[in-house]
Amino acid sequence: MIDSFGRRITYVRMSVTDRCDLRCRYCMPQNMKFLPRREVMTLEEIARLAELFVGRGVRRIRLTGGEPLVRRGIVELAEAIGSKVGSGLDELTLTTNGTLLERFASSLHAAGMRRINVSVDSFCPDRFAHITRGGDLSAVLRGLEAARNAGLAIKINMVALAGINEDEIGEMVRWCAGQGHDLTLIETMPLGSIEEDRTDRYLPLDQVRRLLAREFELLPSVIRTGGPARYFDLAGSGIRIGFITPLTDNFCDGCNRIRVSATGTVYGCLGHEQNVDLRDALRSGGREEVDSLLDRLLAGKPRRHDFVIGPSAAPAVDRHMSVTGG
Ligand code: 5AD
Ligand code: SF4
Repeated sequence: MIDSFGRRITYVRMSVTDRCDLRCRYCMPQNMKFLPRREVMTLEEIARLAELFVGRGVRRIRLTGGEPLVRRGIVELAEAIGSKVGSGLDELTLTTNGTLLERFASSLHAAGMRRINVSVDSFCPDRFAHITRGGDLSAVLRGLEAARNAGLAIKINMVALAGINEDEIGEMVRWCAGQGHDLTLIETMPLGSIEEDRTDRYLPLDQVRRLLAREFELLPSVIRTGGPARYFDLAGSGIRIGFITPLTDNFCDGCNRIRVSATGTVYGCLGHEQNVDLRDALRSGGREEVDSLLDRLLAGKPRRHDFVIGPSAAPAVDRHMSVTGG
């Protein structure tokens, strides 16, 4: 799959549900409206779509949400897709908030998963509960422990929030170094409306990086995953720190990915509406129809996002990250 700018699409992020057991303030409003279940793809449809992607050259699939582990049957789905690892697929990964990892970590590893991303925005239980509107940090910490014991490599995602967790970023770097987890810091992105003004919480990461450089030695890494992060090796630790800076630094030229929502709509870009809806084609079983819809998506995949954050700027798109898959 190659788009009109010559970018090869080898990575697909598949949202398996838009639901979540948390309500992170930067992500969704308290009373988030979720999709009716009949609109959501069945596990069989998701597995079939994944197989079709692998047939078209996709090497890496990430299951996302919402929170993927709240979807019933997630282990069976991971097993179905995981069975392709080594025969076409290089890797099956997961992005999770970690609250249910304690229960699922070893089954996910058995399904063929080797690496996961876990979101942790604060190590202070009260703050964590504030940011997530009621989340229990201790469940996430137990989940991380279980994941490590199961043999899953862990990358921590932390959304940098001005006035909320910015004073904890150094501590997070030290903790990750001690645990051997990679860390990715993320700027808040204007996706879907929330109660607050994201401008108040926007923390430019170039600033954070300069502050961290006073305390830590960050060596620019040659690694580019085709993703948005710029990586640095933390000297002497063996871990890598990534900075996802959609607002301070556009990273779209090397984009290698598309995203599937839980309803089977495929988006060319996180920051644009451009999409094709595969669900009906999948339901009627027409492989050719799915293929031609995907070709249309590739032909129109936008060159770049144009995120703007500011007091008067509307969200770039109406869709929350939990719809398209973080
Ligand atoms: N901006 C930035 N990051 C977000 N996430 C969810 N919504 C947003 C947003 N609007 C994060 C989650 C998770 C990752 C997949 O995306 O915290 O770590
Ligand atoms: Fe749930 Fe992730 Fe959104 Fe938080 S950021 S509410 S964990 S989907």
